[in-house]
Amino acid sequence: MVDSHNRFYFGLLYFNIFILEHFNYKGNLKMMEIGSYRGESTFMWASSGMFKEITCVDPYKGETDNKNEYFDEDWSTVKRDFWTNIRYFDNVKLVQDFSYNIIDSYPDNYFDFIYIDASHEYEDVKKDIQISLPKVKHGGLIGGHDYQKPWTGVIKAVDEIFEKPDITFEDESWVKIKS
Ligand SMILES: C[S@@+](CC[C@H](N)C(=O)[O-])C[C@H]1O[C@@H](n2cnc3c(N)ncnc32)[C@H](O)[C@@H]1O
Repeated sequence: MVDSHNRFYFGLLYFNIFILEHFNYKGNLKMMEIGSYRGESTFMWASSGMFKEITCVDPYKGETDNKNEYFDEDWSTVKRDFWTNIRYFDNVKLVQDFSYNIIDSYPDNYFDFIYIDASHEYEDVKKDIQISLPKVKHGGLIGGHDYQKPWTGVIKAVDEIFEKPDITFEDESWVKIKS
């Protein structure tokens, strides 16, 4: 592959192909994305066509003065971009809150796939994995982003709970099959 390729795009592209094959081309899957930000990853999940329900969870708030911690940008701009990115998909729902506040409004074993890309701090990632696991069906998938340096908190939390991911992708997304 050429050096100039977009590893984020290809990472999620191959992740989508992995999901397709894992579920034997079943389609009609239900997923939750914890941390959607501008909806760029959401766009990748949604455009795969595999999911009948995509539940995005993001509070779109944090830090001070209505600026977010990633870039010096207003949350309203970030949220406007989210809606722009998902404008063609009527199967995407936004729950504007923190994961830990809303996760228990879903039954256990409800989701085929949960993707975690929220806070990258060790305690937060660990908590997100722990609260998400019961909500994933047996044989379903749990994964997330940034299993890489400098996100040592992500690596530590994932390894502590699962030993190692089953697979990592080119964008450093990780995945584990729930036994
Ligand atoms: C790295 S960004 C997500 C990027 C997005 N997945 C993408 O690839 O385009 C992290 C997002 O997680 C959100 N977030 C932080 N803690 C959260 C939590 N506990 N529940 C849900 N979202 C959270 C932040 O507001 C932020 O928008």
